[in-house]
Amino acid sequence: MKLARKDLLGLEGLSREEIELLLGAAESFKDVLKRKIPKVPTLRGKTAVNLFFEASTRTRVSFELAEKRLSADSVSVSAKMSSHEKGETLLDTVRNLQAMKMDFVVIRHGSSGAPHFLASRIDASVINAGDGAHEHPTQGLLDIFTMRERFGGLDGLRVAIVGDILHSRVARSNIFGLRTLGAKVVLSGPPTFIPPGVEELGVQVEPVFDRAIEDADVVMVLRIQKERQDGNFFPSLREYAIQYGLNRARAAKLKDRCLVMHPGPINRGVEIEPQVADGPRSVILDQVTNGVAVRMAVIYLLSGGEVEHGLVS
Ligand code: CP
Repeated sequence: MKLARKDLLGLEGLSREEIELLLGAAESFKDVLKRKIPKVPTLRGKTAVNLFFEASTRTRVSFELAEKRLSADSVSVSAKMSSHEKGETLLDTVRNLQAMKMDFVVIRHGSSGAPHFLASRIDASVINAGDGAHEHPTQGLLDIFTMRERFGGLDGLRVAIVGDILHSRVARSNIFGLRTLGAKVVLSGPPTFIPPGVEELGVQVEPVFDRAIEDADVVMVLRIQKERQDGNFFPSLREYAIQYGLNRARAAKLKDRCLVMHPGPINRGVEIEPQVADGPRSVILDQVTNGVAVRMAVIYLLSGGEVEHGLVS
């Protein structure tokens, strides 16, 4: 099977078959990454540029690693070190990069829709590495991959996503992907952090944090995205931590097999207590590990790669 798409801009609109194809390919690449030499020649001759207009540790490094593990050539550019600082437009920057024959553009940008703007104007495949508060599809895929790895499937799974939903591209991508795969999604957080009308996406809103997490199979904790806020959304960090922080007392009441997830970066002591982030329920570092295999799968399938009998060929 092939993925009949040039770009990956979001999980919204992806079919169940497409998401399962991506997850299946990621499973194969996870096996590749366990080999003594964790590298395949699949994308030899292809070139990727990673264009990051916002800070990143996990996404940027794992895209770079994914490209190297697939034997693609890659270069990374950050906004501060690029001619963006001299006033060059995004489109001009990317057109110039394409003039050097790029096959993939991985872009993180503070403006929602920036990857979509590029995708319709250039021949290279565009991969959204996070655009404003809109989507972060590879994060959504690696989160879903991590849940599927632990539970086998997503149908009927109850996933509580808690915290700053309003500014979270991770929440949106997870909502689209999880709903498509049959999971139930419950959102909780301060009312100012819950987008009005979000129930239309097929999710439940439970304002009482303890009720939202009591039957959950997965609790996904989100950071407060201060960089996207222009007002006061809650009285103080201390009060936030008391009301919405996943602390040891709350974690002790979770269902036996309940997983604790966080896309990172973590603000320890605010949305999650260090002992919970590092505790036995936490799969936070597994999420990071899985990010490389998932990003390999995305690049491979967008380049026209096939999955046959669950294996990449
Ligand atoms: N989860 C995530 O996007 O982390 P980074 O901002 O470090 O890439």
